[in-house]
Amino acid sequence: MSDAAKPKPPQPRGRFITFEGGEGSGKSTQIQLLADRLNAAKLRTITTREPGGSAGAEIVRHLLLSGMAKAFGPETESLLFAAARDDHVNQVIEPALAQGTWVLCDRFTDSTRVYQGELGKVDPKLIRAMERVTIGSLKPDLTIILDVPVAVGMERALKRRGTAAPDRFEGEGVSFHEKLRDAYLKIANGDPQRCALVDADADPKTVAERVWKALRDHLFSVATTRETSQV
Ligand code: TYD
Repeated sequence: MSDAAKPKPPQPRGRFITFEGGEGSGKSTQIQLLADRLNAAKLRTITTREPGGSAGAEIVRHLLLSGMAKAFGPETESLLFAAARDDHVNQVIEPALAQGTWVLCDRFTDSTRVYQGELGKVDPKLIRAMERVTIGSLKPDLTIILDVPVAVGMERALKRRGTAAPDRFEGEGVSFHEKLRDAYLKIANGDPQRCALVDADADPKTVAERVWKALRDHLFSVATTRETSQV
């Protein structure tokens, strides 16, 4: 049989890594640094974000972050986050993973659990039901939770924002952000196999090394995979 006629080996699925954390925890910087490192190791990687990440979801993002949807209440906000996620998963995340591309996503379902669930008091049963509809069996291979003291996060967010008005959630007070941090710590402690809690109160390079170690520990420590030799 000629090489051209041989069936191609099945494409290994990409890995799905989500980043979570409160305001000013440095997610976007760390996602970019990790993407650069993975791409340099010849692991095709894309970055994306929620809410948004696909054309349809970006429209919903505007509705949510402008604060226009706040008046509808946290249940309806949750439904809008779910609608955006559904489009994002179908249009971007699943197709990329199926092609063997690694997907790094800035926020995912844990954000809904924390912001709408823990803080907005939306019934966890509703949150789980929406997860079943929007993501089905898709689960992050790893969730990096970047942890910073609230004062540090708020200071960083303020610097980044400059003179622009705070968005829907940046405008909340200190106690909101304290509760947010606690809710993330609870998620990290409750699912240590999927989640890595990373101390993000340091310069970007130091935090990037911590993220890298977490990735290696979680994804490459047990099985020897094709990727291990490359990173
Ligand atoms: P964004 O401008 O992307 O900033 P950052 O992720 O750096 O905070 O803001 C997204 C906001 O939306 C953020 O305040 C968290 C919130 N959010 C939810 O409340 N629920 C969700 O499911 C998601 C994905 C985000």
